[in-house]
Amino acid sequence: MTSRGGASYRASMPDSSHCAAADKALEPDARVPSRDRVLGHDALAMRLAAISTELNSHEALWRALAFREPGMAWEAAHPGLAAALRALPLEAAEALHADPGACADWLARWLPVERWRLLAEVGAWPRHALRPWPREFQRDVPGRKWAQIEAFVVAVRDGGHECIDWCAGKGHLARALSQQWNGRAVTALERDEALVAAGAALARRARLPVVPHACDVLSEAVVPWLRAPRHAFALHACGGLHLRLLRAGAAARLPAISCAPCCYHLGAQAGRLVVSLAGHAHAPRLRPEDLRTAVQETVTAPGHARRHRRRVQQWQLGFDLLQREVRGVDAYLPLPPIDAAMLAGGFAAWCCAVAQHKQILLPGDVDFEAVERAGQERFRVVTALDLVRHQFRRLLELWLVLDRALFLAEQGYRVEVGEFCSRQLSPRNLLIDARL
Ligand SMILES: C[S@@+](CC[C@H](N)C(=O)[O-])C[C@H]1O[C@@H](n2cnc3c(N)ncnc32)[C@H](O)[C@@H]1O
Repeated sequence: MTSRGGASYRASMPDSSHCAAADKALEPDARVPSRDRVLGHDALAMRLAAISTELNSHEALWRALAFREPGMAWEAAHPGLAAALRALPLEAAEALHADPGACADWLARWLPVERWRLLAEVGAWPRHALRPWPREFQRDVPGRKWAQIEAFVVAVRDGGHECIDWCAGKGHLARALSQQWNGRAVTALERDEALVAAGAALARRARLPVVPHACDVLSEAVVPWLRAPRHAFALHACGGLHLRLLRAGAAARLPAISCAPCCYHLGAQAGRLVVSLAGHAHAPRLRPEDLRTAVQETVTAPGHARRHRRRVQQWQLGFDLLQREVRGVDAYLPLPPIDAAMLAGGFAAWCCAVAQHKQILLPGDVDFEAVERAGQERFRVVTALDLVRHQFRRLLELWLVLDRALFLAEQGYRVEVGEFCSRQLSPRNLLIDARL
């Protein structure tokens, strides 16, 4: 296999024997992805194993957080790549972050990025025809959210059951499903009472049998709702919330579960990040921060927001260098957030305030201008080095989704995984569909 740039990555890969073996393992079989097909039940375990092999053998590249460490452990094994990244001007590194195709082409000189791209590929769900929406639906739901809901409804197959909308917010998805499926009864479970009340008013106005209930799905109060044979839906339920659905739903033998997970790191308990037996058998050593990497988006915010973020990180990185020197401890120290008022007060004042907060005694002769410049330089290098870790975001996310899909398969469900919308519409676009 050659890279997208046409050059062979093997020539410059220290672990080329592994890559060659992995290439062979990817020749036409169920692991080879197709844009045209969702990932079928029989392919889930093989794809998980193939991604695990990749993640395990390149662990150093995705686990290292450049923001926390001035030097990456992998740099010694990839000296050419490390030197090229460290020489990148900030604008060039930011441009590569904003253009994934160009970034892959650039990195392909050193890394098997084309193989990673192929491994992360998942087909789209077939689209079902829709009946026309009442006009107020679009009016009641913010534009992007409405487009995501529509794409979700188009992708899911009606199994004929009553439904549950899990962590429903105002129940927009619940009303959409009920309307499309001929006035189907939908129970919308949501913890926030204000959202429940707003959802009840919207359902009344739409004259649909959608009934919102205030319910903390993490508590035992949810169990009675799972007794009837219902089809459970979860659109963008965060880490602990979608795991709860999979576990409690499977335990209750719900006939169907359709779940688009989100924010895997939220509510995820260390030691319980992997849920399937297959996942445990292959598990890369995941930490909560790796689950955050899986959903980290390229920051493309223009103008002011971008300059603000850049300055905040430059200050934090500058202070990090200072605290290592002053404390004589070469270790990262988490810092409190920086707001706009602190930025206005200047770098030296902020450093003194943070030092006091962290009970670090700064010497009287600190050259704050030099520290600030060092932070800016380190930010440039961090931005460049992060190009490597970010190559693994989709692989990590797909690994997590496959782990959750395989958990349901191990509970006796027939499971498929596919994309329900474009990544532009929502980067969290993977839908797990499980039928008993
Ligand atoms: C990201 S929103 C998704 C809402 C909706 N599914 C959608 O796509 O518009 C997550 C929702 O979960 C609700 N939530 C958070 N924790 C919950 C819990 N423990 N039990 C029930 N709902 C919860 C929040 O209030 C919020 O409305």
